[in-house]
Amino acid sequence: MIFRDFPLKLMETLKCRRSLHQYIVVFMFLVTLSTGSTCEAPSSPQCFRTSSATIMYLCEWMMNTTESDVSYDLYIEYEAQWKLSVLLGPVRTENKCRGIKETTCSINGDDLIQKRPVDIWVVAHVGNSSCTSSRTSVELRHIVKHKVPQNITMSWLKNNLSLSWKAAEKYPALAEVRFRRHERPTDSWETRMTNTTYETSKYSVIVVNLLKFTSYQVQIRQRSSQAGNPLWSDWSPVVTVPAELEQKPEVSMTTTLLNGTRKVTLTWKPMPHAAAVTGVTYNVMDTQSSQKCPCERRRPDIKSSEHQTYVSYSAVNISVMAMNAAGSSPPAIIQIPAQPAADLKSCDETVMKKKIKKKTCFEFYEFQDGDSRPENIITVTADKKKNRKSVKEFVRYLYFEHICEKGKPRTVDMCLVYKKQGAPRIIPQDFTASRETHNSVDLSWKAIPLADQQGFLTHYSLCSVKIISPEAQKECRNISASLINYHLENLSPGAKYSFSLAAVTQAGEGPNAETAINTLPEKPVNVLWSLSLLFVFFFISTTCTCILKRIKNKIFPPVPTPVIPNFTPYQAESQEMPERKEEVHELTLLQLHPEGKSVPEDAEETTILRGDWDDDTDEDVENERGDSSLSGGTSDECLGPGSTDQALKRSKGGEVTDLEQLDNEIAMLIYRNGLVFDVKTELP
Ligand SMILES: *[C@@H]1O[C@H](CO)[C@@H](O)[C@H](O)[C@H]1NC(C)=O
Ligand SMILES: *[C@@H]1O[C@H](CO)[C@@H](O)[C@H](O)[C@H]1NC(C)=O
Ligand SMILES: *[C@@H]1O[C@H](CO)[C@@H](O)[C@H](O)[C@H]1NC(C)=O
Ligand SMILES: *[C@@H]1O[C@H](CO)[C@@H](O)[C@H](O)[C@H]1NC(C)=O
Ligand SMILES: *[C@@H]1O[C@H](CO)[C@@H](O)[C@H](O)[C@H]1NC(C)=O
Ligand SMILES: *[C@@H]1O[C@H](CO)[C@@H](O)[C@H](O)[C@H]1NC(C)=O
Ligand SMILES: *[C@@H]1O[C@H](CO)[C@@H](O)[C@H](O)[C@H]1NC(C)=O
Ligand SMILES: *[C@@H]1O[C@H](CO)[C@@H](O)[C@H](O)[C@H]1NC(C)=O
Repeated sequence: MIFRDFPLKLMETLKCRRSLHQYIVVFMFLVTLSTGSTCEAPSSPQCFRTSSATIMYLCEWMMNTTESDVSYDLYIEYEAQWKLSVLLGPVRTENKCRGIKETTCSINGDDLIQKRPVDIWVVAHVGNSSCTSSRTSVELRHIVKHKVPQNITMSWLKNNLSLSWKAAEKYPALAEVRFRRHERPTDSWETRMTNTTYETSKYSVIVVNLLKFTSYQVQIRQRSSQAGNPLWSDWSPVVTVPAELEQKPEVSMTTTLLNGTRKVTLTWKPMPHAAAVTGVTYNVMDTQSSQKCPCERRRPDIKSSEHQTYVSYSAVNISVMAMNAAGSSPPAIIQIPAQPAADLKSCDETVMKKKIKKKTCFEFYEFQDGDSRPENIITVTADKKKNRKSVKEFVRYLYFEHICEKGKPRTVDMCLVYKKQGAPRIIPQDFTASRETHNSVDLSWKAIPLADQQGFLTHYSLCSVKIISPEAQKECRNISASLINYHLENLSPGAKYSFSLAAVTQAGEGPNAETAINTLPEKPVNVLWSLSLLFVFFFISTTCTCILKRIKNKIFPPVPTPVIPNFTPYQAESQEMPERKEEVHELTLLQLHPEGKSVPEDAEETTILRGDWDDDTDEDVENERGDSSLSGGTSDECLGPGSTDQALKRSKGGEVTDLEQLDNEIAMLIYRNGLVFDVKTELP
């Protein structure tokens, strides 16, 4: 190379610039030549600024050598200013970096070399031999080459990937991004050219429309958009971009109580593979330690999928968040309510004045009716003592005292407290008297809502005043604060009373609710009682009468007086009847037909049977009578006195003669088992 270059240089210099300086250079070449040893020349140097704002130039070159003892000289040659050129000739050569070991060198870009075209070359010295690179002619101030983008951060915006890195200068640059899917490293790169945005000394670009749930490999290079002759930076190292963590971790939790401390064990499922290619860490935070109440704990990033933590009995929110290089998942928030004490008592008087120590904290939960999840929580720690001032008067608080013990929080006290108690501000609602008697009354009311109590109720004060009475006097009594009704006794009968009820706290008595009644006049027996007794008596007597009647009817069935008073033989027969057992008999057919033709059997039979069943209703019997007379009447068309005679003869035999004694009236008597059906037929 040197041999090849030498004649050219020699000719050039001899031809154009016959200056002293040039001769020196030629001499140097000759010296180099004379040493006779060879080395491979370095590449020609590249000099640039890393940003247009700096005046330092960085020169880089390359040298292929296995030698360890190599040193370099960098030369810059330019046309000298006219004053100097008189003295030294028109060309000046400066040896900027002398005998350096590295292949880079920084030079201060003064006006002499910046503002005009210069020739740059480098000479390498290996042992006793030297080799010179080829020259480059450049105008230095136009050349800007940014550094490699470093510390690239990434985050997903749905399908778009945002990449950012430290800005090379305070102007936007042009960036080229190349990427391929992480699981296909043999695919060719896809490239995108974009202008970066510049903000707070950061460059950022957005690569749009990538695939979701996919991890990528990314490289970036950048180029100044300000310089006249910008150079591309080198490609950044390959960066692996994991997929977005879109889902919050699925966390399950178990708690165990340990004497004031709750041990919370959290476990969660691993994140999807594409989001975990560069590893996932988990961050567990709780609201107690973030408020330093009572322990301040640093939460290391957790690699495993289980974590144990300790919390006090106070309510706490624990959040679990997964994080990878491209961002973090939404947090999974586990809300653990306060561990309720079995029986909350009111606090000691001293609690409100207790001094707060380090690693201790107090909490005041505003206690509201029917609200187990308190909203306004005041936390007082050693750092935030002033918070105690925001505890309100006349408001009931659930008070907690926690201490930090060996790094674990523990609840040591839990009670109800007022900063200052007041008298209740409203009357007991719906105070009514009911069920008054001559000497007692039931009083009932509704409990006063917590917000209106303004203190711990010690008792109710219940007073009664007898109005219009010579010895009118007020009587008061204390009754339990837990009651909502009271049975008041020993009142005078027939008097007017007024009652007043007020809730009482340590601070005094609240307003009075009032109601009035008249007691009933005294009576030996209550009217109601006597009325009901009378009714019962009446009822019993009626029932007894009925039953007795029935029994009598059973034992002595009523014997009807025969229609014909002098029908003696039948009377005798009927008197035997009660001794017989009652049974349904075959019906007796009375055929009152001249030709002796009989009426159909079943028709008669039904009538008789019905008569048997409805034996205790006289009315029915009457009906039957009517029916039979009716049926007798209808079937009478063919009945003549003779046929009746015949039938009677058939059934009763010898008695026919007696019947004949009746004038203009035929009476038929059917007498069965104590029942009489008589058929009367009026003969014209
Ligand atoms: C360095 O030398 C190796 C072989 O010795 C060659 O393959 C390579 O291209 C050389 N590099 C340069 C920059 O000359
Ligand atoms: C380099 O030159 C010195 C004398 O100038 C000589 O002593 C030495 O042996 C030479 N080394 C090589 C490697 O030629
Ligand atoms: C990346 O940034 C961190 C601090 O944010 C720094 O410690 C580290 O050296 C940087 N890495 C590179 C390659 O600049
Ligand atoms: C992603 O880029 C596309 C194309 O520029 C744009 O329409 C979309 O709004 C971007 N999405 C987000 C979430 O920024
Ligand atoms: C970058 O911006 C310049 C002007 O601001 C514009 O000419 C150029 O086309 C842009 N390049 C890209 C890739 O958007
Ligand atoms: C709980 O802690 C208290 C001290 O605060 C101690 O007196 C008590 O014995 C402990 N109980 C148990 C079961 O450890
Ligand atoms: C827990 O989170 C819920 C909902 O964001 C909030 O209302 C509550 O005050 C939090 N509790 C604590 C103890 O921070
Ligand atoms: C009711 O209680 C108050 C306070 O405890 C007491 O002063 C008062 O004497 C009591 N009244 C009666 C009637 O017991």
